[in-house]
Amino acid sequence: MSAHQKLYEGKAKILYTTDDPEILLTHFKDDATAFNAQKRGQIEKKGEINCAIATHLFKLLEDSGIPTHFIDQVAPNQMRVKSVKILALEVVVRNIAAGSLCQQTGLPVGKVLPTPLVEFYFKNDSLGDPLLTRDRLFLMELATPEQLNQLIDQALQINTILTAFFNRCQITLVDFKLEFGITATGQLILADEISPDTCRLWNQAETDPDRRVMDKDRFRRDLGNVEDAYQQVLERVLATL
Ligand code: TMP
Ligand code: ASP
Repeated sequence: MSAHQKLYEGKAKILYTTDDPEILLTHFKDDATAFNAQKRGQIEKKGEINCAIATHLFKLLEDSGIPTHFIDQVAPNQMRVKSVKILALEVVVRNIAAGSLCQQTGLPVGKVLPTPLVEFYFKNDSLGDPLLTRDRLFLMELATPEQLNQLIDQALQINTILTAFFNRCQITLVDFKLEFGITATGQLILADEISPDTCRLWNQAETDPDRRVMDKDRFRRDLGNVEDAYQQVLERVLATL
């Protein structure tokens, strides 16, 4: 299997074509961005760490019956994935109030939500990934009503599986972002990545609101020790599988 041309370069990953039109190669970069790429930097070894974490979490989800685009890990920072048409939606699941939910509602950071909240954002950098309503989502034809129900169902199932797994790692899954795609045969499957770039993860052994952060908020908020935190997540994931 050889990589051919670059199909797409995003902020954290590059997608290459392969000899097989149904398979793409994802290369995880060390580049980090935040606030719609207004803040840029590098996190040493992030590509390898996130590729390893995403590999283990995709396998965990597949083993639990969730269809994903993951095929296999072929290098420390590369995985093969099924080619899909990505929906222009960011599906965010929240268990605890943090980030934009607190900024937009005034809810206190750390408030445990009575039930998980599933939200949809329009994946569009030039518009700043705005929060969508259900009616706007349909108006813009970003998903059909059937797909929306499937997305909510999958997102909640994924949340149940990942929350239980991270709890075993002594990590609280505060919130996370998912992306989904449609395969050539029309199946809706989980795509993109799940990693400390796309989740809020709090160390259960720490109560201090800054020290407990094990995810990209360390980079967003200049909290320091970003690589150490990502590495610690990987070590706990490996020790828990
Ligand atoms: P938010 O609180 O900033 O809306 O973020 C919610 C979750 O989504 C959090 O775990 C971080 C993740 N996320 C991404 O993966 N990519 C993004 O572009 C944004 C804004 C958030
Ligand atoms: N990934 C997004 C960006 O750069 C935002 C974020 O994760 O905070 O722009």
